[in-house]
Amino acid sequence: MDVQDFKIQWFPGHMTKARRMMETQIKLVDVVVEMLDSRIPLSSTNPMLIEVLQNKPKVVALNKTDMADPAKTDLWIQKFKNNGLAVCKIDCNTGKGVKQLITTIQEAAKPVIDKWLKKGVKNRPIRVMIVGIPNVGKSTLINRLVGKNKVVASDRPGVTRGQQWITIAKGLELLDTPGVLWPKFDDPEIGFCLAMTGAIKEDVYDRNDAVEILVERLATRYPEQLKKFYGIDFDTPDPIAIMEKIGTLRGCIKAGGVLDLNKVVQLVLRDFRTARLGRFTLDEP
Ligand code: G4P
Repeated sequence: MDVQDFKIQWFPGHMTKARRMMETQIKLVDVVVEMLDSRIPLSSTNPMLIEVLQNKPKVVALNKTDMADPAKTDLWIQKFKNNGLAVCKIDCNTGKGVKQLITTIQEAAKPVIDKWLKKGVKNRPIRVMIVGIPNVGKSTLINRLVGKNKVVASDRPGVTRGQQWITIAKGLELLDTPGVLWPKFDDPEIGFCLAMTGAIKEDVYDRNDAVEILVERLATRYPEQLKKFYGIDFDTPDPIAIMEKIGTLRGCIKAGGVLDLNKVVQLVLRDFRTARLGRFTLDEP
């Protein structure tokens, strides 16, 4: 199975609505935090955001670093920095890097504060919103940032009813509802990465096709981890042969002694998504 043949059935209707909502929300903030999945820093980026940012400062937060290949994460960080972006790595499950993220947001806001000061505006809080594709960890980050800071700043005009600003640090207010960026699927490679990391629902792609590509990729880029975890050996990254070996060892067998491929697929996917299999980065820096 070639990744170029990987297909996602999707419906573009939602995208226009999501974009309109984000345009409205971005007008209300001073800094935007774009959350990316460290396992797929490229595939979890949405180019539409640049169009709606309107020159607002952006901070990139690479989340789920606990699940990504640490060496590749560092390469990605370097790449983002080389492109002039403010970036930090975080792990929202443990809270690692979240303090640094606040500092980075404050630094990114400095030019805005200077502009206000020139106009004589003092002590105005910096307003921030978090955006990202589904399942990247936006709500987990918001919960972490809000933590015990239950203090609700105030309702502001223009914000959808029910949305509020929450003080998360001195002079820093966060919009309590994240902006959902609709993932882009036009490139099959990106669709595959989004599918494997759980950013898109399983009913819009063929799980067996996706896992076949995943096994081939891991067998090519991370063969030793794959061999060690499943206790198997292979010379060539032939995904079907590898899945047969895994299935035999793990007892994924149907009546009549036939391999139960669906069970192997389920097993590999679970091991990959829980990072039990190892820490992997699917997007090459
Ligand atoms: P969202 O608002 O962007 O849609 O994402 P949300 O915070 O709901 O997080 C999605 C899942 O990712 C959650 O798992 C959450 O615990 C997990 N998650 C968030 N940040 C991190 C991180 O830094 N590291 C790891 N390992 N996981 C993280 P969940 O509730 O179990 O959902 P699911 O994984 O079953 O979809």
